[in-house]
Amino acid sequence: MPATVVVGTQWGDEGKGKLTDLLAGQMDVVVRYQGGHNAGHTVVVGGETFALQLVPSGVLYPHITPVIGNGVVVDPGVLLDELDALAAKGVDASRLVISGNAHLIMPYHQELDRVQERYLGKNSLGTTRRGIGPAYADKAARVGLRVQDLSDPKIFRQKLEVAVKEKNAVLAKVYNRLPLDADEICARYLEQYAPRVVPMVADAVAVVHEALDAGRNVLLEGAQATFLDVDHGTYPFVTSSNPTAGGACTGTGVGPLAISTVIGIAKAYVTRVGAGPFPTECLDQVSDLLVERGHEFGTNTGRRRRCGWFDAVMARQAVRLNSLSEVALTKLDVLDVFETVKVCVAYEVDGERVAHPPYHQSALHRAVPVYEELPGWGSDLTSVTDAGGLPPAARSYVDFLAEQIGVPIRTVGVGPGREQFVTVAA
Ligand code: GDP
Ligand code: IMO
Ligand code: MG
Repeated sequence: MPATVVVGTQWGDEGKGKLTDLLAGQMDVVVRYQGGHNAGHTVVVGGETFALQLVPSGVLYPHITPVIGNGVVVDPGVLLDELDALAAKGVDASRLVISGNAHLIMPYHQELDRVQERYLGKNSLGTTRRGIGPAYADKAARVGLRVQDLSDPKIFRQKLEVAVKEKNAVLAKVYNRLPLDADEICARYLEQYAPRVVPMVADAVAVVHEALDAGRNVLLEGAQATFLDVDHGTYPFVTSSNPTAGGACTGTGVGPLAISTVIGIAKAYVTRVGAGPFPTECLDQVSDLLVERGHEFGTNTGRRRRCGWFDAVMARQAVRLNSLSEVALTKLDVLDVFETVKVCVAYEVDGERVAHPPYHQSALHRAVPVYEELPGWGSDLTSVTDAGGLPPAARSYVDFLAEQIGVPIRTVGVGPGREQFVTVAA
């Protein structure tokens, strides 16, 4: 049975957690394929809210095997806290499988993320300061520690001592910071974390392939989003991994032919946290209203999200970059009160109208959105349960987006709850 990918099509927080949870009802295995605890995936079930950072969003179903793939960067302290918080809410996550090849986030990664951001001053990226960039940098530089190293204290200490020596030199000489203590880190990781983490470590590639071979349903859950991708996003205002669908292959160990469906998640408008270009950003009361109605504050960091109208230019690019089979549209209900809703259908760049984002980032900064304005629907969608219950103007908005981006929209979110969605075929 081929796998399904869930991928964010904008700048994150599109509702990947909710969609993953929804689809997990039909799945057997849910694998996170990249990112770390920079992610905050919200699932609302029976009025209870779960904000997941590292644990795959399918965990709430007892039949699901949740897997943290090799492409993820894992802070074991955060993971254990998350597992404890889930247990306190009655969620049994003991089936969790962690790839031994996933890299560890170490205390010096967090420290470097903080000081590098501070050092950049007004050019800072607005990272989540969770150590994500420095951890992926060490992975690429081949000096990272991996989850499997937790089960070999000798190797762990050897690698750690080399890393801490170099990081301390950088922290002291470049950033004027106090050195970190390798012994303290060793004790924490090997004595406090390893006894609980190591029993969950397994050959995640085998787990996924055995499930696929047995005809079971596997969902590959992306974090962040297409335009935060280190290769295809608005570099340097990106994260340090590949959230695009290709990352689902490298981050779990399946080839492209093992994937049959790629579902892009898109908000009915657009949000972004942190710095970087955002052509349809609104800086007026539209933004305030979207923030207020959509509760647009970071799930983990609490930062206010920047907001703007739906951008079909970026969405078309997301279709290309991910081979999207379909789009799930979320938060349509947030637009309920607008008299009219705008959709960016093209950009004007240096007097020329373009249907795809310009390849040069400086041009993207100059891009002026070309909008079409559609009538609003002026009624509450949150209790709509089927396509027939959508007011004609809401339905027209969904159909217009599908036509603009060129792939079907099959699911429309009308509220945060697991049951608040409508199946359409736009
Ligand atoms: P993710 O990072 O992509 O999983 O998204 P987040 O969880 O960070 O942010 C999405 C927010 O929107 C969460 O608070 C969700 O509970 C909420 N949400 C998801 N779908 C809908 C929807 O259709 N309508 C409304 N009103 N809220 C939604
Ligand atoms: P989910 O999975 C929204 C943003 C940060 C910053 C940039 C780099 O919940 O959609 P990083 O800490 O990754 O080095 O920060 O990426 N960012 C996110 N924005 N949702 C996320 O995750 C994000 N993860 C990172 O705000 O601009
Ligand atoms: Mg989020």
